[in-house]
Amino acid sequence: MKDGKILTLAIESSCDETAAAVISEGRDVLSNIISSQIDIHKQYGGVVPEIASRHHLNNVNTVVDQAIEEAGVSLDEIDLIGVTYGPGLVGALLIGLATAKAYALAADKPLIGVHHIHGHICANYIEHKELEPPFMALVISGGHTNIVEVEDYNTCRVLGGTRDDAAGEAYDKVARVLGLGYPGGPLIDKIAREGNPEAVEFKRVFLEKGSLDFSFSGIKTGVLNYINSEKQAGREINVADVAASFQAAVLDVIVAKTVGAAVDMGKDKIVLAGGVASNSMLREMLKKECEKKGIKLYYPSPVLCTDNAAMIGCAAYYRYVAGERDDLTLDAIPNLKL
Ligand code: KG4
Ligand code: ZN
Repeated sequence: MKDGKILTLAIESSCDETAAAVISEGRDVLSNIISSQIDIHKQYGGVVPEIASRHHLNNVNTVVDQAIEEAGVSLDEIDLIGVTYGPGLVGALLIGLATAKAYALAADKPLIGVHHIHGHICANYIEHKELEPPFMALVISGGHTNIVEVEDYNTCRVLGGTRDDAAGEAYDKVARVLGLGYPGGPLIDKIAREGNPEAVEFKRVFLEKGSLDFSFSGIKTGVLNYINSEKQAGREINVADVAASFQAAVLDVIVAKTVGAAVDMGKDKIVLAGGVASNSMLREMLKKECEKKGIKLYYPSPVLCTDNAAMIGCAAYYRYVAGERDDLTLDAIPNLKL
């Protein structure tokens, strides 16, 4: 506690970012340190779990020290320790969890486990001080694509999710096929701006009527087949056109299902979260559809879209003030359900 305010120290290590943050009253960021391993995993075209764990182990203490120092607080003044305990890579999660437990034990502070997706949603409370539940959330990242009904600060209900690849994964795979590099999402976002989204007609996969689930694995094959048939016909591939057309096919479905869910469930707010929430076309398309339906759209700035610990601290704070506590038996759960 500092100046009567509750302080949270949070740690996130579920994938390839080692992150720690100190936040005040759940929503004010005092520090938000992110050590990204993207440059290391780039050479392999994706995250290598064993390498990720090793780097978390090397970096985590420095990152936590830096977060406390930059926040200008002492460990004594911290009220709770928040940590991601799933879903994610088990070896990666364990490093953050062991560190959080060590701090909780040594400084005698309560430990609060956070669901990574809940954290992503909470990034919006940090960005938008006036935002309160209920609302509809679209969590869209390299590992997840979920439509989530957020009833209150601690109650979320998953209405739909991907049956195969996550949206970010589809972006990354298609970018690789197009020879764009890793991570592919931002690269497709950029190059698609110069392309024609109607140049290639990729299939929009809506699944059964009324379903809020997604399927993105077919589109990678669709792009591959298109490239192969064009090459066989001796035609040049227009990468910008293919990127724009792929993106249009994926986003048409995502936007229709998300806005449809909000309308059906009587929600007047949609909240975007996760790495793909940075996508400029997704924001534009959603904004347009939301305006038509009188829905207000919220999304975090890019630094709070990708993995960070500030969002985990926010989620931990709301569990803490609701009286929830975990103990040192808290375990990493790679496929943790929301
Ligand atoms: O949330 P995040 O940092 O990590 C996970 O929890 O997965 O999301 C990373 C994902 C990657 O697949 C990356 O390609 C994608 O988010 N991404 C984007 C954009 N920026 C990041 N996808 C599309 N457009 C973007 N601008
Ligand atoms: Zn994430």
